[in-house]
Amino acid sequence: MLDLTPEKSSLDAIEIASRDEITALQTERMAWSLRHAYDNVPHYKKSFDEAGVHPDDFKQLSDLSKFPFTVKSDLRDNYPFGMFATPREQVSRIHASSGTTGKPTVVGYTANDVDMWATVMARSMRASGTRPGDIVHVAYGYGLFTGGLGAHYGAEKLGCTVVPVSGGMTARQVTLINDFKPSTIMVTPSYLLSILDECREQGIDPRETSLQVGIFGAEPWTNAMREEVEQAFDMHAVDIYGLSEIIGPGVANECVETKDGPTIWEDHFYPEIINPDTGEPVADGELGELVFTSLTKEACPIIRYRTRDLSRLLPGTARSMRRMEKITGRSDDMIILRGVNVFPTQIEEQLMKVEGLAPHFQIELTKSGRMDAMIVHVESTKDAGSKEAQDASAKDLSDRIKDVVGITAKIEVAPEGGVARSQGKAVRVVDNRSKFS
Ligand code: DLL
Repeated sequence: MLDLTPEKSSLDAIEIASRDEITALQTERMAWSLRHAYDNVPHYKKSFDEAGVHPDDFKQLSDLSKFPFTVKSDLRDNYPFGMFATPREQVSRIHASSGTTGKPTVVGYTANDVDMWATVMARSMRASGTRPGDIVHVAYGYGLFTGGLGAHYGAEKLGCTVVPVSGGMTARQVTLINDFKPSTIMVTPSYLLSILDECREQGIDPRETSLQVGIFGAEPWTNAMREEVEQAFDMHAVDIYGLSEIIGPGVANECVETKDGPTIWEDHFYPEIINPDTGEPVADGELGELVFTSLTKEACPIIRYRTRDLSRLLPGTARSMRRMEKITGRSDDMIILRGVNVFPTQIEEQLMKVEGLAPHFQIELTKSGRMDAMIVHVESTKDAGSKEAQDASAKDLSDRIKDVVGITAKIEVAPEGGVARSQGKAVRVVDNRSKFS
């Protein structure tokens, strides 16, 4: 693979500033953001007052822990525009979560917010190895989801030629990659696997495509998947992290020269890790729930937002800003099977090691008698061979899950194409346990 490390001179000054400079900027911006939220959003005035804190109590970053958290239901309770800190007329863009489990959560952006977002996305793409002038294939969904438009504005800001394909029509995705010759693809890792299958279907060697960089996020994926994808396409695979409540994609992004967990763009998003049970902040390096406070957002300032994502804060390597460990999972996605905690990424990690099985998978939770049980639905590869060979692959996977994860899972091997595909975020867990009660 090519060395795509960006020139130091092309970085934003703050990316390589001293820690003291970063802290000074964060402190100044934090004071503004707390004041802005308190003065302009009734929800924050009420929650700060109830907690007995005032923006004037903030003198240094360690004071942040006195302020109350914000959770998803706060956004829902203020549906649709109650969290806006600016008059609606100054909001130039709305995004929203899908709202499959209740009302969608709505976020707004002023023109300045859209510009800040484009800046952190351009920075993310440059960190990934994309250069001005490159062609960028955006296969994240366009619409209320932040993936497509976030990537789009970032690519334009970096000076790239954007191909706004959005998700779906997989055959056309491959045709456009083949014809337009992008250097970069931005897509969920699970949908990239469908594009990979389609390449092979069309007789195109993925290693021979023009792709040099893949910027993957919106769902958890493992380092084992990174290796698989880098091998398959002969390209760099880097992790991009974000969530709509904070801005969308571009809260953090891996640097191509280190690939050691996303660097958090700390000049705009202040991270904390807390113990999810007690709410107490934990030291850098410790595992817990990621919490973010926006430092510069105008339309929707967000204070101490509990992401439910589990990670740890790590020191900067390629940049001065801190990194987050690649996300293992969301607390919501954690399966507790007979007392053992399991994340879908742990299953993915083992699946990647097994010969004869494709990287697509879906976990079904079911009942065996009165006990919870897990079925892992997987697919055989085209060249998987005989039924005996497939059974041996299934046994290999179930043994690995038993040994490493510590649970008993039934493996069901479907023929190629037999596991549900998504064009955006994959649905990794289907819970059918209630059908048995
Ligand atoms: O998924 C924003 C995004 C779009 C990020 C495109 C990256 C690329 P939401 O739909 O609000 O926003 O979902 C946010 O997705 O809390 C995580 O649980 C998960 N997530 C996002 N990026 C990653 C990642 C977008 N790199 C939720 N690794 C977050 C693991 C991720 N999980």
